[in-house]
Amino acid sequence: MKELKAVEASKLKICVFNYREFDEARHFREISSELGIELVICREAPTLSTIHLAKGCSCISIITTPMDAELIGELHRLNVTMISTRTVGFDHIDLKAAREHGIRVSNATYAPEGVADYTIMLMLMASRQMKRIMERAHIQDFSLDGIQGKDFARMTIGVIGTGRIGQTVIRHLSGFGNPLLAYSLSESEEAKRYARYVSLEELLRQSDLITLHAPVDESNYHMINADTIPKMKRGVILVNTARGALIDTKALMDGIESGQIGAAALDVIEDEISLYYHDLKSKVLSHRDLAVLRSYPNVIVTPHMAFYTNQSVQDMVYASLKSCVLEAEGAENPWRVV
Ligand code: COI
Repeated sequence: MKELKAVEASKLKICVFNYREFDEARHFREISSELGIELVICREAPTLSTIHLAKGCSCISIITTPMDAELIGELHRLNVTMISTRTVGFDHIDLKAAREHGIRVSNATYAPEGVADYTIMLMLMASRQMKRIMERAHIQDFSLDGIQGKDFARMTIGVIGTGRIGQTVIRHLSGFGNPLLAYSLSESEEAKRYARYVSLEELLRQSDLITLHAPVDESNYHMINADTIPKMKRGVILVNTARGALIDTKALMDGIESGQIGAAALDVIEDEISLYYHDLKSKVLSHRDLAVLRSYPNVIVTPHMAFYTNQSVQDMVYASLKSCVLEAEGAENPWRVV
């Protein structure tokens, strides 16, 4: 009995913020028991008023809530040594502040097929005017005028970013037979089997459809902007399932209104954080750009759902907890960012 207590006392303790009962709970229960971890559960986001719940925990597990310098300072005061985000992206975490406080940061990985296939679904929907077809069918307007689609396989597709998701998009698109162009800071042999790497300028000039799969940082913030949009083919289709900040929303709206951009499908938009994953149906929407974008007949907006499959959620929980265990053991952690 004494021995058992000693083991219990040494258990790694992780505070899980934004814990979701309906899809994550089962995985948290199973994986924490398999890894011998104690969890402190918080359904709220980590903020200055909830962060005290992490007291006594060495790690916190989060999703997309911005972790700014002030919040990271609080974590340091609470002796938390690690922030483990259950997301691939980590642009919501102030890495500089984490470094300064000696707090480790890790991200998660999950099977890329979920996002890749959702992206291809959006490409098909945008090129076949599916938003308009569905809206019209809903009111029994079965007319043809104005909803003619583009032949998908004939479109040259430009893929920006060829990490795991970009590569998977390229591989899956190869089955459709589209000419494929790619641009990325580091080139992948897998992508080269199906796509031709070109400069960003050439990709913008030659593509009928452009899809974004890069993480966002200072170097590519607003890479789609008032200078780059005019370099694209007139009527180009833009798809973004990566990060909203890759696109300057105002320039995008101007491009759509002028017809330079023929259609867009956006699973992510700038400043989405306070909106997505909340039920706001009876609220006044506090994001004018989102309201305007949704009003355009040729723009599909979905609420950052491309990742959302059963396998991805399980992988996110596993990566987040396992990386805390690896750090605690002083072992090599493949998810470590800082
Ligand atoms: C990521 O994992 O980086 C995502 O984009 C999905 C997340 C916002 C839940």
